[in-house]
Amino acid sequence: MISANPMLGENPLKIPKDRKFKKVEVAQALRWGIIAELDAINFYEQLAEAIEDERVKKVFLNVAREEKEHVGEFLAMLLEYDEELKEMIAKGYKEVEEEVGVVPKSIP
Ligand SMILES: [Fe+2]
Repeated sequence: MISANPMLGENPLKIPKDRKFKKVEVAQALRWGIIAELDAINFYEQLAEAIEDERVKKVFLNVAREEKEHVGEFLAMLLEYDEELKEMIAKGYKEVEEEVGVVPKSIP
């Protein structure tokens, strides 16, 4: 199902014209990039589900897969900018394992 309010490019950052981003702003930009990529994956998969033409469906699913790679690119860089993130992800993994017995798959 297609959302009534897809994100599609609205950027919450106020981009300065007179300077480059500070470290915290780079981290925010990378998080925003991850949000945009995840939203794109949902959007393309939902479109693929709704499309009968297998050729068009395949293109949308291929592009959705490429967006997953982009999530990995942004996440790899975000881990460089947000030192707390890796530790908190590890805590979240541990909590899920303790609470519901799911052993999270590791990300390379
Ligand atoms: Fe992308």
